[in-house]
Amino acid sequence: MSKDIRQRIEVAEHIRSLVPYQPGKPIEAVKRELGLSSVTKLASNENPLGPSPAAVEAIRQAAAGVHLYPEGSCHDLRRAVAVHLGIDGGQLSFGNGSDEVIHVAGLAFLTPDDQVLTGAPTFVLYRTCAILNRCELVEVPLRDWTFDLEAMADRITDRTRLVFIANPNNPTGTIVRRRELERLMDRLPERAILVLDEAYAEYVDDPGYPTSLDYIREGRNVLGLRTFSKIHGLAGVRLGYGIARPDIAAELERVREPFNVSVLAQAAGIAALESDEHVRRSLATNEAGKAELARAFGEMGLEATETHANFVWVDIGVPCRPVFQEMLRRGVILRTGDIFGADTHMRITVGTAEQNERCLAALREVLGK
Ligand SMILES: Cc1ncc(COP(=O)(O)O)c(C=O)c1O
Repeated sequence: MSKDIRQRIEVAEHIRSLVPYQPGKPIEAVKRELGLSSVTKLASNENPLGPSPAAVEAIRQAAAGVHLYPEGSCHDLRRAVAVHLGIDGGQLSFGNGSDEVIHVAGLAFLTPDDQVLTGAPTFVLYRTCAILNRCELVEVPLRDWTFDLEAMADRITDRTRLVFIANPNNPTGTIVRRRELERLMDRLPERAILVLDEAYAEYVDDPGYPTSLDYIREGRNVLGLRTFSKIHGLAGVRLGYGIARPDIAAELERVREPFNVSVLAQAAGIAALESDEHVRRSLATNEAGKAELARAFGEMGLEATETHANFVWVDIGVPCRPVFQEMLRRGVILRTGDIFGADTHMRITVGTAEQNERCLAALREVLGK
């Protein structure tokens, strides 16, 4: 008789409380499940124009060298980004997406006595970071879909260690401005680090928009996060980085894995930084798309939050789940607001003119507008 070898694994309580990340539904899965030949994905805030031709060529050329481990320090990429931002290379730490930089920052700076302060709803990985490191998570509800920095300041304690602000915020597209941010910063204890997640910074055109670079130059405890996944269209190769004072960046460098950024990502990143024309086109496409979506939502009587990013947060006035399913049947993948606690909202990535048209036509049909 065969022995029963079923075993049980013990998992710590805080790990069990984690919910695996739910990505936007992949295009191929929707095609397969619904028998569709063409599907438009506007669910993950990717660049609808794709990567720049120069980045694709750089990946092609680098592909022949993937039997070798990557350059562990991202030497050439580091120099390129440092020149691009006008800072020192020692102020940077690269990651397998900025997701990884969030993870590394948690490992480097959090201990179980610490508090992590952020807003809600916002990017889900801040919560994961707090839970993984057994910290108390303090989530302050947004006001008008915007980080409520005054209410957040009131929740600061001497245990506050990391403060996460997505600027622009995901999923709402709103920004916080210089004066209110500085008021919050001035109330932080010395040991706290403000993490300014600037994944969508390149899309912002607002005179009051603060960037982490300004504060890092002043010597503040600020960690800026940037990514190549959005305006540079490289979400699939995974590349992001943190910017900070050299002493803060050095701690991230101590913690990160030795070869965390692939050969392909490093090559693509350098080429993307030189692809000014592609960035300009991407911005222009986004601006035109935002205007088109805003006009259409107005006509449909739907309330959309003013966005500073490459997606819109719109109240469709009815429960979002059934609408999501109906949109899927019409070959359009969106992101539902319910995962962010907003049952009648959708987050819609700004696409090309054609993609936006397809999305709007389907939405009009589904909502009967
Ligand atoms: C606010 C925010 N931060 C970070 C990320 C992750 O970016 P990356 O692809 O660099 O891991 C995203 C991705 O959607 C995001 O919205």
